[in-house]
Amino acid sequence: MAVTGAVLVLFLVAHMLGNLKIFLGADSFNHYAEWLRTMGSPALPNRTLLTITEIVLTLAVVLHMWSAVSLARRAAKARPVKYAARRRSQASGYATHTMRYGGVIILLFVIWHLLDMTFGVVNPEGGDATPYARMVAGFQPSRWWVTLFYLVAMVMVGFHLRHGLWSAFQTLGLARRYRALKAGAGAVAAVLVVGFLAAPVAVMIGVVK
Ligand code: HEM
Repeated sequence: MAVTGAVLVLFLVAHMLGNLKIFLGADSFNHYAEWLRTMGSPALPNRTLLTITEIVLTLAVVLHMWSAVSLARRAAKARPVKYAARRRSQASGYATHTMRYGGVIILLFVIWHLLDMTFGVVNPEGGDATPYARMVAGFQPSRWWVTLFYLVAMVMVGFHLRHGLWSAFQTLGLARRYRALKAGAGAVAAVLVVGFLAAPVAVMIGVVK
């Protein structure tokens, strides 16, 4: 869980920073999107490193879900009889209880998101438009429900990350520094949520057009 989670967190940090390039204008953002496709050129053919990244990401998502299911099965096998009393476990809080459904919502979001921003199938500008045009068209005020869906998904990503990071710290045996690490996990999650939501909100209120 922790290794695949770490790969996904690194991707999220890079993706969030890349998205913020929208504030530098259309040319800068499109140039960055172009660079994603030409990374490693001319030594490597276009899309080589991007395709490797996509394969690693897909494997990370599949293995992350597989680990979640096998860990849940192992936990159920170790304790087939439910506890009589619902004691608050050490890992309490809202995020803990939303990992499973939060994960499913994030997966559904990623499917919609790829159809929207990568393939353009559900985007008003379609797949042939530039990435900047797709972003601006996708978050227009008339499509407020899309922005709302992104907002809900990003909050889910934030909760998922906060709990996931904290759990990874525990796996690594760092839980003794409880307060600092818990606050650290919360801070990383909050920065990512705000960073991700900046672009859709800026388009929605007309700051980016
Ligand atoms: C408000 C938040 C987000 C915005 C505005 C956004 C925007 C974008 C855009 C514009 C692209 C297309 C880039 C291109 O074609 O060059 C993209 C691709 C992608 N995004 Fe996001 N994204 C957001 C959040 C997320 C999150 C939270 C995830 C994962 C949980 C994610 C996963 C992906 C993936 C897997 C791709 C495809 C990368 C590829 O082409 O291989 N995105 N995103």
